[in-house]
Amino acid sequence: MDIKEAILTRRSVKHYDPEHQMTAEEVNMLMEHAILSPTAFNLQHWRFVNVEDNALRQAIREASYGQAQVTDASMLLILCADLNAWEKDPQRYWRHAPKEVQDFMLPAIEGYYTNHHQGQRDECFRSAGIAAGTIMLMAKGMGYDSCPMDGFDFDKVARLINLPHDHVIVMMITIGKKLQDARPRSGQLDLEEVFFTNTFPEQTK
Ligand SMILES: Cc1cc2nc3c(=O)[nH]c(=O)nc-3n(C[C@H](O)[C@H](O)[C@H](O)COP(=O)(O)O)c2cc1C
Repeated sequence: MDIKEAILTRRSVKHYDPEHQMTAEEVNMLMEHAILSPTAFNLQHWRFVNVEDNALRQAIREASYGQAQVTDASMLLILCADLNAWEKDPQRYWRHAPKEVQDFMLPAIEGYYTNHHQGQRDECFRSAGIAAGTIMLMAKGMGYDSCPMDGFDFDKVARLINLPHDHVIVMMITIGKKLQDARPRSGQLDLEEVFFTNTFPEQTK
């Protein structure tokens, strides 16, 4: 499947075959591609939790207002991020870069993130959001469907997965074999309403 077809056919699917299991090779293939997604300063601050345990899936479903895809999908992936990845041995993010690049990037990381709590959090959400897109399109290319989710109690899910104190949950993604098509698209805005050239139009007061 080419990238255009994956984009055109990806939909948020809510009904999956609960009997279908992804192989370990498929899960690895999906995640090996996910971690090629771009991240700010190459921090790779996303952390992914693949929930395989049935009882834990059930508990997360209850924390997700009963949404069936949480237990029925082949894969339930919780996209998290480490707010402090920027200060955890950052040399390793640039270890294969030339020395002059390392000499520039490492102080730049420290300068940007130190005491910049909003930036630390924003970058986690930006980078994990991009990874979510990669994962959903990769899944589509592998013959699977997916659904991004934030309809759950973040605090409850954090406790259930033992989220470290300096990490955040960004969203969940379910991935599996579709039993039922998504409903027809519910109403895309016209491109002119969301796409501008150079500046926003003048506001009329
Ligand atoms: C951040 C985010 C959170 C979402 N949370 C849920 C959710 O909790 N449950 C659900 O069924 N769909 C959820 N969706 C799916 C949206 O409803 C869906 O993307 C939107 O209606 C457009 O449909 P499409 O993805 O099929 O094009 C979420 C989507 C995003 C991007």
